[in-house]
Amino acid sequence: MGEEKLVIGVLASGRGSNLEAIFNAIQTGVLTARVGIVLSDKKDARALERAKQHQVPSIHLDPRSYPDREAYDAAIVTTLTAHQVELVILAGFMRLVSKPILTAFPNKVINIHPSLLPAFPGLHAHRQALAHGVKVSGCTVHFVDEQTDHGPIIAQASVPVLEGDTEASLSDRILIEEHRLLPRVIQYYAEGKLKIIGQKTFVEGGV
Ligand code: GAR
Repeated sequence: MGEEKLVIGVLASGRGSNLEAIFNAIQTGVLTARVGIVLSDKKDARALERAKQHQVPSIHLDPRSYPDREAYDAAIVTTLTAHQVELVILAGFMRLVSKPILTAFPNKVINIHPSLLPAFPGLHAHRQALAHGVKVSGCTVHFVDEQTDHGPIIAQASVPVLEGDTEASLSDRILIEEHRLLPRVIQYYAEGKLKIIGQKTFVEGGV
């Protein structure tokens, strides 16, 4: 029997709330896809636990067991391919991905980041936003290239930054939007609605 649903592989380093949002979207029919594998670089990532709860295969690959980044990423590709993954989602995966992954999955790696890129890439996005006194922040879903939190932007959602916000309060406000945006973008991908033209991505029919 042929596979009808898009098979996604989710890479996560921590809590896995975006992974949970993907599972919820699948359960409620917002997203027509199947999570083929959840992979983490951290042994105790809660994301691995969530995968088990949903009876989805999960694996911890320790970067320290590989000589360099390329070797580690090649092992990730082997795992993803073994699980028939067609689209790779970085859901709080706190490592740079390198050529082996980008070559095996050209324009098929999507990341979510908690800022309005190109502002505040990298670690501590909320801290950076607060330090700059921006009045609006949000999240960005984008195709991944070899730079940190960089590549054609697919969709963004904004939230106000309020007086008295802490990293935690701003993060909570942005996370609500992350959990809405990421599954929607994956569904656009599944429906073939994303078109990359140069450094830009367009959603057929608009977001
Ligand atoms: C999310 O806020 C995601 O946007 C961010 O990590 C968090 C993971 O939360 N990603 C990055 O900062 C990537 N540079 P989660 O594990 O609960 O989904």
